[in-house]
This record gives sequence, structure tokens and C-alpha cells, in this order.
Amino acid sequence: MTDLKERIAAQLTAVRDRSLAYTAAEDDLLVRQHSPLMSPLVWDLAHVGNYEELWVLRAAAGITPLRPEIDDIYDAFKTPRRDRPSLPFLRPAEARDYIGGVRGRVLDVLDAVDLADPSPLRRDGFVFGLVIQHEHQHDETMLATLQLAGRPGVVRDGDLPPGLSAGPEEVYVPAGEFLMGTDSLPWAYDNERPAHRVDLPAYWIDRLPVGNAAYAAFIEDGGYHDARWWTPEGWRWRQENGVFGPLFWTREGGTWWRTRFGRPEPVPMDEPVQHVCWYEADAYARWAGKRLPTEAEWEKACGWDAAAGRARPYPWGEQDPTPELANLGHRAARPAPLGAYPGGASPYGAEQMVGDVWEWTATWFDGYPGFRAFPYREYSEVFFGREYRVLRGGSWAADPAAVRTTFRNWDYPIRRQIFTGFRCARTAAPEER
Ligand SMILES: [Fe+2]
Repeated sequence: MTDLKERIAAQLTAVRDRSLAYTAAEDDLLVRQHSPLMSPLVWDLAHVGNYEELWVLRAAAGITPLRPEIDDIYDAFKTPRRDRPSLPFLRPAEARDYIGGVRGRVLDVLDAVDLADPSPLRRDGFVFGLVIQHEHQHDETMLATLQLAGRPGVVRDGDLPPGLSAGPEEVYVPAGEFLMGTDSLPWAYDNERPAHRVDLPAYWIDRLPVGNAAYAAFIEDGGYHDARWWTPEGWRWRQENGVFGPLFWTREGGTWWRTRFGRPEPVPMDEPVQHVCWYEADAYARWAGKRLPTEAEWEKACGWDAAAGRARPYPWGEQDPTPELANLGHRAARPAPLGAYPGGASPYGAEQMVGDVWEWTATWFDGYPGFRAFPYREYSEVFFGREYRVLRGGSWAADPAAVRTTFRNWDYPIRRQIFTGFRCARTAAPEER
């Protein structure tokens, strides 16, 4: 096997181990719907196998369908999440058998395939990258489901570096062009392409994500009761839902508590805030005298190396993420303290851009100039428009295989069950330029 094939095989194994670990529970936990926002866990499990069958076995290798009769059950577009409990989805044992059978054939295809083949699905192992990233994304979705289910014992926790770095509150990004998106990263999705020049005025961006202490100050200053800080849609959402703070937070005896995978604990004030929706992030930013960064501002601050005139795949450079550089790949079931990764700083000095929490940006999800859907419109294009806000950077629950400077995620502005926080930005005043 070539090096690339070995890397693909190792990544397929790693992601599957994780999917199986998140579904190593009694059947009842797996088949039940824990929130109308989420699928039953066993739906996600068989869906990743079905996706792998569709793309690797059928589309790339031309193999006859194994279980064509279940395709509709696992087509995310045919049945919204809230209705999935009523589908005749495979029960846990059958789902594990099915995805195992698909995986065996996928490894045979990998063994035989020519990764230098010019077919865009096979070249550089694109289709394998597609299914590996897809499964990682569903693993993160399963973690969000397990957090909503609130049952301890399924999700493992671990150690993270202490918060260490000292530095300014904001870092400065001078005016000028940068290269946004990519033409060269082989496993990048269609929505990250093509690379294009974007010219931005000078701005400041927070060195670190907004932390729980700062967010608690916003709440305690009456931020949730002051319409000045909210957009009209955000204010309506806040009033209709009676929201007073991040999802999973409660207040007891003057202390903020949160429930994390079923266990209550005092909110650690030195961690980035998570489980806030776009409306909350946007309101906080206005209260702080700032705003959310645009997606372009986020990406430039994360990866643009002005001295070299090129974009980095990670804030720190080319090197793959390690536990010293970023909190990715579910090392622990939480974000790391603020300032835990000074070595992972971007060329402009922004830290924790990658890992810890997804970060809301001010930008609606849309295609870049010259966008072409590949390999299917339903991956990205059908979500373009003014319905979804872009999220960047990946969370502690995201895997390095599905996180990079150019990677784009998107969700509705009301979503809070995802592992999402934010940082703020502001346009530089004339005297600051
Ligand atoms: Fe999916």
C-alpha cells in the first residue's frame, strides 16, 4: 500500500472506532429520540455506512447496491430530523452489521483503487476523504445528541493543558488583500473553493474566544433584558423562549452551574463560552462595543501569512494538529482554558482559532465567486442564501481531518446544542490604522 492508502485506512479505522464508542450503549438509548433537533443515535450510525456505500462503493467503484431498500431511510433530505424516530431504521445490531459489511468492501476498493486516476472522485483519495470527514461530522452530531440526552458514562473526558498565555485582548490585522478559500487542499469541500482574493480594511479581532467570565458579566449586566443589544429577530427569539443564558446553564446560590454530559458542575470561568446561538453571540458583541467578525475577517486572522504571501492550512502553519497546538479530536469533553495554546497562534497572534469551540461569524453561508457544486448539490449549494450563518474553526468535538483554516460549517442562527462560541472584532478607527 502507498503512504496515502495507509493514511486513509488508518483514518477510516480511527473514525469508525469513535462512532462505535459513541454508540456502545443499550439499545434504548440508541433508538430513542432525545430531542426533535437530533436523530436517534443509531440513525446516524447506519447513515454514515449508507453514505459510504453510496459514494465509495456505488459512485466511485460501480459496485451493485447492497441494501438499496434502505436508501430512503438514510437520505437526510427525505426525512427531517424531528420525523426520523418514525422511520423503519435498522436496529443497533443490524446497523452495526450493515456498516461493517460496507466497510469491508470499502477497504477492498481502497486496496485496488488507483489514487492517481484523474477521476475527481478517486484522485488523491477524494471520495475517501469525503466519507471520513462525513463520519467525523456525524460523530460530533452524536456528541451533541449525547449532551442533550444528559446521560453520564458514554462520553469519555480527559486532560487538557492549563490556560497560560498572556497577551493583548485584541490583535490587529492591517488592511489589504488575502487569499480566501483553496484550490489546492485535496480533501477540501466544494464550498471552500475556489481560492479568491478578498480585500479587507484594517480591523481588530479578539486574541481569544469570549470566555465564560466575560459572558457571565454580560448576563449579570442585564444583557438578556435589554433590547438595545439584540437584533429584532434575536430579541423576539429571546422573549419567545425565555432564554437567560447559554444552553445547559443554571444559576444556584449566586453561582453559575452547567450540565455536561449529564453531570452538573460549576461553570469554569476560564473556558470559552459554548452552547450560545448566533443571536446571543451577536448581542454580546454589541454589548461589548464590538461586532462579530465577518467570515473573511475570521479566515484572514486565522491563516493568512502576509510575510510569505500565502495562506496556511492551520494557524500555526503546515504541521498537522497535535495536543500541544489545539484542542481537537475529542481529547476531553470540553473546551480548553483560554490561553492554553500559545504555540497554536496565527501569524497575527490570534489563539484558539482552531479547536475548542466553533465560532459564529457575521456572514450568511453562500458560495464563493466561481463556486461549482461537487460531488453533489446537496452537500452545500442547497443551503446557500440567507438562512444559515457560517461557523468556523472546529470544536473540541471536531476531528483534525475535518478542520482547517478554510473549512466552513453553517447552521441556523437559533442553534445552541452544537459546540459553539465566538470571538468579537471591530473595524480599526482611522487613528489606529
Ligand atoms: Fe450526513
